[in-house]
Amino acid sequence: MFFISGALYYTANGDSFRYIVTAALPYVNNVPHLGHLISTLLPADVYSRFLKLQGNEVVYICGTDEYGTTTEIAALKQGITPKELTDKYYAIDREAFDRMDCKPDIFSRTSDPAHTRLVQSFYESVKKNGYSYKKNIEQLYCDRDQRFLPDRFVEGTCPHCGFEQAKGDQCESCGKVLRPTELIKPRCTICGTTPHVRKEEHVFFALSKLQDKLYKFVGAQTHWFPSSRNFALSWIKEGLEDIDIQRDIKWGVPIPEAGSTGVFYSWFDAPLGYVTFTEQLGKGSWWHDSKTRLVHFIGKDNIAFHTMFFPGMLIAAGDNYVLPWMVASYEFLNWEGGEKFSKSRGVGLTVPDANQLYPADYWRYYLLSILTEKKDANFSWEDFQAKINTELNDTLGNFLQRTLVFTQNSFGGKVPTPGELTAADKSALLAIDTAFEKVSKHLGDIELKSALEEVMGLARTGNQYLQAEAPWKNKERSNTIIYVSLNVASALSVLLAPFLPSTSEKMRGYLGAKPVRDWEDAKERVKAGRAIGKPEPLFKKIEAKEIAEYRKKYAGVPEAKAEKKKPEKK
Ligand code: 2FM
Ligand code: ZN
Repeated sequence: MFFISGALYYTANGDSFRYIVTAALPYVNNVPHLGHLISTLLPADVYSRFLKLQGNEVVYICGTDEYGTTTEIAALKQGITPKELTDKYYAIDREAFDRMDCKPDIFSRTSDPAHTRLVQSFYESVKKNGYSYKKNIEQLYCDRDQRFLPDRFVEGTCPHCGFEQAKGDQCESCGKVLRPTELIKPRCTICGTTPHVRKEEHVFFALSKLQDKLYKFVGAQTHWFPSSRNFALSWIKEGLEDIDIQRDIKWGVPIPEAGSTGVFYSWFDAPLGYVTFTEQLGKGSWWHDSKTRLVHFIGKDNIAFHTMFFPGMLIAAGDNYVLPWMVASYEFLNWEGGEKFSKSRGVGLTVPDANQLYPADYWRYYLLSILTEKKDANFSWEDFQAKINTELNDTLGNFLQRTLVFTQNSFGGKVPTPGELTAADKSALLAIDTAFEKVSKHLGDIELKSALEEVMGLARTGNQYLQAEAPWKNKERSNTIIYVSLNVASALSVLLAPFLPSTSEKMRGYLGAKPVRDWEDAKERVKAGRAIGKPEPLFKKIEAKEIAEYRKKYAGVPEAKAEKKKPEKK
């Protein structure tokens, strides 16, 4: 096992770890957009590919988060059953992410019966350990629809920030978790009428009992993304409250209590999907192994659940569950200068649409290049075009193409034997080792954007070297120059593998090499005499007219028009 000196990797006794890498489970009530990809499946995919290439034991877990009020509401609006709705979107999600080359080891579903069994038995452990109880609560009830209105079945004004479209479970504006009865001027999401309060007995999770343990735990995680840790610490300091984990809807995991017709709150069952899906891979024991590093990739709206609620559940269940070793949380993706993605208004791009427009690696490259932990990322068509054209095409693509074509034309398609190395040659070769160290360190520390920048730095170095040394003019040194360039290209084909898997594979093919199996291959020198393949351009430039067309197509319609287009409520 190889260890790099990145802060997260270093252990005094050189212990090795196994990794459970999770990407937040997408809801399946609409088509996923690029914002989902950038904060969850894509970074988790890059990181787990890197860990695997390093030879670590890794499972990358994802799947769909199917239960809950949101799904029930969406199904109701479309006039189909939740099962029909989730079947439809599960297939869409799976294909969309797969085409983006995001390849979890499993992409399962929380509606799987195995998950129901796991959640119910997990609850029994929580209960046995004294972390659940029943309490009478006040709920909102809609007389017109004759039903209780949990979570998103009710909307109103946020008591904390005044946002008027706050949902009954959380305010999207200030991020605070809410109870439906806390909303000012509540209204039923189905029919719009004002609900009234009714009493009912509900099952609670005693999160408040874990206040001290969680504060200590989070406090000790100084290596976490600061955004996750600071958010959690200030929340816990304010005092943790017990959580109502029952919902009076049909679409969920039934609560195994005599006489109960309720189901579990979807945030009680969904994170346990990570456990169920790991078990489905036959690696369930990893959840109880102190050598496991549990790494969550999430959007910033999920921080509370992954830093406090889920760890609290894991502690409450006992059984030596591992707690998250890292919570990598990402900011939102804004659309063209600050607009929020909006399905109803047609603002922004869905993953299936993106798949229709350009190959996966164009999106992966662009999204990783704007990925940020500190502030919201902004998608801009112009920036997208510029990055693909100047960085991927002009720098990486041209460097490889010129090197390979020269090898074909001047050396019969074989790697030439180098002559004596000049200072410039040595420095280009040294750049490989330097880039390897830096990229490894950044990837180990989950600094994916910086890691990719280092890889592209090496491509730039290669390009500048080739341009300056000009083998086409400098015939007697051309063998050495091409040898060095092919070595830089080969290193790039390895270092790019976690980020742009399909480009990496193509490059390997052109270089006469097998797909990357080992991260250390980046430092291996290409042998003279090896036959290289026939090169094709790696990328195609994006034309200004394409961008102009897509900008218009995905800009959405103004609010008022969009409102009119919505179907009438029943
Ligand atoms: O916010 C979301 O999209 C949720 N479906 C994430 C769930 S993550 C996990 F805990 F399952
Ligand atoms: Zn608010």
